Amino acid sequence: MTLIIIINKSIALIIIKKKETMIKKTIQIAAIFIFIFSNSLFANEVNIFSARHYDSDVQLYEKFTAKTGIKVNVISGKTGALEKRIIEEGSDSQADLYITADAGRLGAFASNLQGGLTSDYIKSVVPSNFRTSKWVGIAKRARIVYFAPERVSGAELAGLTYESLADSKWKGRLVIRASNNIYNQSLVASLIKNNGKGKVAEWSKGMVSNMARAPKGNDRAQILAVAAGEADIAVANTYYLALMLSGSKGPEQQAAAKKVKPFFPNQDGRGTHMNISGAGLVKGAPNKANAIKLVEFLLSGEAQNHIVNNTFEYPMIAGISPHPLVVNMGLDFKQDLKTKVVNYGKRQADALEVMTAAGWK
Ligand SMILES: [Fe+2]
Repeated sequence: MTLIIIINKSIALIIIKKKETMIKKTIQIAAIFIFIFSNSLFANEVNIFSARHYDSDVQLYEKFTAKTGIKVNVISGKTGALEKRIIEEGSDSQADLYITADAGRLGAFASNLQGGLTSDYIKSVVPSNFRTSKWVGIAKRARIVYFAPERVSGAELAGLTYESLADSKWKGRLVIRASNNIYNQSLVASLIKNNGKGKVAEWSKGMVSNMARAPKGNDRAQILAVAAGEADIAVANTYYLALMLSGSKGPEQQAAAKKVKPFFPNQDGRGTHMNISGAGLVKGAPNKANAIKLVEFLLSGEAQNHIVNNTFEYPMIAGISPHPLVVNMGLDFKQDLKTKVVNYGKRQADALEVMTAAGWK
């Protein structure tokens, strides 16, 4: 009798042991499945749609991955193509961040972006005029005047404003790119915000009559035109002169850049027109937290130094020195910090309308 009980007990023990092994195995298999599933659902990555064409940005993303373990997937392209893809893919879009130049562009795309890009760090380092809850500036640029010193005197330049570029004294002496250019649309939008649409409509007519030629080419082409004597003054962004001076656009452009000088308009008033390169948080971003982390990294001292030394833009955060070629252009100018860059998108349609009506090609 006793023996049977012992046999039964040992059988029972074996059965219990087998059950334990099965449970353990089941738990192990479940853990593996949960790991694989969650990894695909909550992968540690961030997806960037970038219209910035800088190789240096990729180096920056690699630094971010090394620091955080968050993989950065970059889709590069032109703004139009990237925006079209995000809109068409809608809720299926994998885009987390849309990185591009110009606040007007980010502003016009705002209905495809979402709020929440507002961490304490972002708010503490980026002045409120260079961000909204949906997008934030990561670097700054100014749109300024370039002049030929042998044909334009200091007295002629004294007190120059964007508004006074339409004065008849500049007749046939000015070059600026076409009205479909986003930088011009943002500049004109800022003028509308400050002076009203009616006044800027008149100003646009003055600008057109002052043009030395019908608008053509990019910003560098305007600087080249002044260097070549086709015009006396040009409107172009700050980083282009430094880029040309650096020699990376070739010896001819470097030589041309040395023939022109920068002038920062509106110093006696609201200051020189500022714009940004920025990042927008895409609606339905699958990796929102990682996207915010990446933007915070781009606004770190390390990343800001990297950006300004590769793109010749101005830093967004305080305490960072721009590239020496940009420092040479002068840093003590007054920036327009009064006109919020969100207005560039809001007044974009009006800007294009007044330029087109004035015959600005
Ligand atoms: Fe540019």
